Amino acid sequence: MTTTTPIAGRATAVAARASDLSKVYGQGETQVVALDRVSVDFRQAELTAIMGPSGSGKSTLMHCVAGLDSFSSGSVRIGDTELGSLKDKQLTKLRRDKIGFIFQAFNLLPTLTALENITLPMDIAGRKADKEWLNSVIGMVGLADRLSHRPTQLSGGQQQRVAVARALASKPEIIFGDEPTGNLDSRSGAEVLGFLRNSVRELGQTVVMVTHDPVAAAYADRVVFLADGRIVDEVYGPTADSVLDRMKQFDAKGRTS
Ligand SMILES: Nc1ncnc2c1ncn2[C@@H]1O[C@H](COP(=O)(O)OP(=O)(O)OP(=O)(O)O)[C@@H](O)[C@H]1O
Ligand SMILES: [Mg+2]
Repeated sequence: MTTTTPIAGRATAVAARASDLSKVYGQGETQVVALDRVSVDFRQAELTAIMGPSGSGKSTLMHCVAGLDSFSSGSVRIGDTELGSLKDKQLTKLRRDKIGFIFQAFNLLPTLTALENITLPMDIAGRKADKEWLNSVIGMVGLADRLSHRPTQLSGGQQQRVAVARALASKPEIIFGDEPTGNLDSRSGAEVLGFLRNSVRELGQTVVMVTHDPVAAAYADRVVFLADGRIVDEVYGPTADSVLDRMKQFDAKGRTS
């Protein structure tokens, strides 16, 4: 397995890697280079935040690495599997078996109960849930007494906790979240971020999340900054202040260039 040394003396396996990844939308005058030769590793059992101005390519990067969107050039690997080498069916299977998603808008099915929503991806895949694991995930997100409720009977924070549990339930190799706390008040957001961080610390889960919020980014082990489709900086062990500082620097550069 490939290893890398982010911090001196510490070798960690790579859960996902983008190499020279480019994504171009449209042609000619309307062409948009959403990703411009991005190379980045997401290491196992780390929580990485992706930040950057609106339109900088955060969602595009996540969708390409998660196999939800095609890319124009370069390569993407999940574990040891090159996405570019997969046929559609194989890609669908890899997404289903190895990747968890948490979206800004929860994406729960209204006619299903909380528990049914949590186990839905595994039910679709015809896989049996590991009961013990499922119970520990449900316990961790504090939903044990809400399992028979439907999404409309749950608060926003509770709905997002269902989405977090759903992503964790199948023990995916990596979880991607696009602004997973974007629709939550700060308290519910802090809860969901706490669960995500616990899943990394205690369960060894790998998580990559896009966020605009320096406070949310401070939950991460590392923050990667994008601007105009390129990685322009990264910070290890971020605090809300250090992230805010970097954001201000980029804003200042943007105004002077
Ligand atoms: N389907 C599409 N067709 C054409 N251009 C697109 C498409 N999707 C995204 N883009 C463009 O690609 C660039 C990157 O978009 P992306 O959605 O990745 O940004 P983002 O960093 O996630 O922004 P935000 O913070 O607003 O969500 C933007 O300039 C956007 O307009
Ligand atoms: Mg986006």
